[in-house]
Amino acid sequence: MYTPAITGTGVYTPEHVITNAELVEAFNAYADKMNAQNADAIAAGEMEPMDHSSEEFIVKASGIERRFVMDKTGVLDPDVMHPLLRQRSDDEPGIMTEMAVDAAKKALAQAGKTAADVDAVICAASNLERAYPAVAIEIQQALGIEGFAFDMNVACSSATFGIQAAADMVRSGSIRSALVVNPEICSAHLEWRDRDCHFIFGDVATATLIERIEDAKGPHFEILSTRCATQFSNNIRNNNGFLRRSRPDGVKDRRDMQFMQNGRKVFKEVLPMVSQHIAEHMGDNDVANTDLKRIWLHQANKTMNDFIGKKVLGRTPEDGEQPNILQDYANTSSAGSIIAFSQNSDDLDEGDIGLICSFGAGYSVGSVILRRHA
Ligand code: COA
Repeated sequence: MYTPAITGTGVYTPEHVITNAELVEAFNAYADKMNAQNADAIAAGEMEPMDHSSEEFIVKASGIERRFVMDKTGVLDPDVMHPLLRQRSDDEPGIMTEMAVDAAKKALAQAGKTAADVDAVICAASNLERAYPAVAIEIQQALGIEGFAFDMNVACSSATFGIQAAADMVRSGSIRSALVVNPEICSAHLEWRDRDCHFIFGDVATATLIERIEDAKGPHFEILSTRCATQFSNNIRNNNGFLRRSRPDGVKDRRDMQFMQNGRKVFKEVLPMVSQHIAEHMGDNDVANTDLKRIWLHQANKTMNDFIGKKVLGRTPEDGEQPNILQDYANTSSAGSIIAFSQNSDDLDEGDIGLICSFGAGYSVGSVILRRHA
């Protein structure tokens, strides 16, 4: 058996930023337009008018201040209200491949490695650009990696589930190393016309290189243990899929073809599930809360993270102990905890212990316990 370690991470951040102020202005213009278009039905009591969104609500309910997206022009146009991405030919790289390759190159550079050192690519994300060929294989080819690649999807937990799959393969000796990449274009599955959720998501790509610990060239994180769990729930759901054309009204502009959630229920049900999962994972590995130097959580909601941080540590986390990046990136699905890790881990000392945890649709929860070697 070999010991796996995270030797490099990388983050690709899109160029376009949407602030809450820009987002609310576009949403309110859309709501006014819809209300004017449906004035007669609203006056007759046959339809409810659309309410305005507010910056104050967004920050208070979520902690999100801005988000990066692959295209902001369509999202902010009240006549469009979704990203506009150019059509690509089959002979050019897919958009997810471009994002993932950028993040992967940064992860390889940090580890001091090249494509020749990598045996596998796992593309783990909430949404994949196409059904086949696997996006991961296109990324593998673009990077010039030999070996194999595959896609996987466990929604917001995709990165930690991918890290567990890679770490287990490294541990068993079937591969020497793997890149886990998480290109997330959440702007394309978000319903920007729905006030309850239009502020939630952003786009990004992350990459994590997992190698045998003896192959690490610089500072790295030994993977002490990983744990994944799932439990079926309809509270976060998206019904879009390849059967769409076959179903009555399938191709119509239906609300359930984008992200839907019952946010309050998610809060109530996921918090205890995650807190218990982390406590059991730490307990089974003899990691006490006093041993934990840092927690890198899934980045969906600040209140949620404050609650989990307090439960895990048994006290309110001090500044920097449980870093959030959601104020700048919003919820980037599986990539969120990896951005937090990538941007807030260099300063840890030899022997320090930290924990990555992601959670979300499924429900799903994945945790990774790490030890720093500086
Ligand atoms: N602007 C102003 N008011 C808004 C609004 C907006 N954009 N969106 C909703 N409101 C209103 C609601 O209509 C509601 O009004 P009411 O009390 O009169 O009915 C009120 O604000 C509270 O709405 P609610 O949806 O209960 O807010 P919340 O405190 O639950 O926060 C979320 C909403 C989505 C931020 C929160 O539920 C959440 O983050 N849940 C978990 C999300 C999660 O982790 N999801 C995983 C996805 S991968």
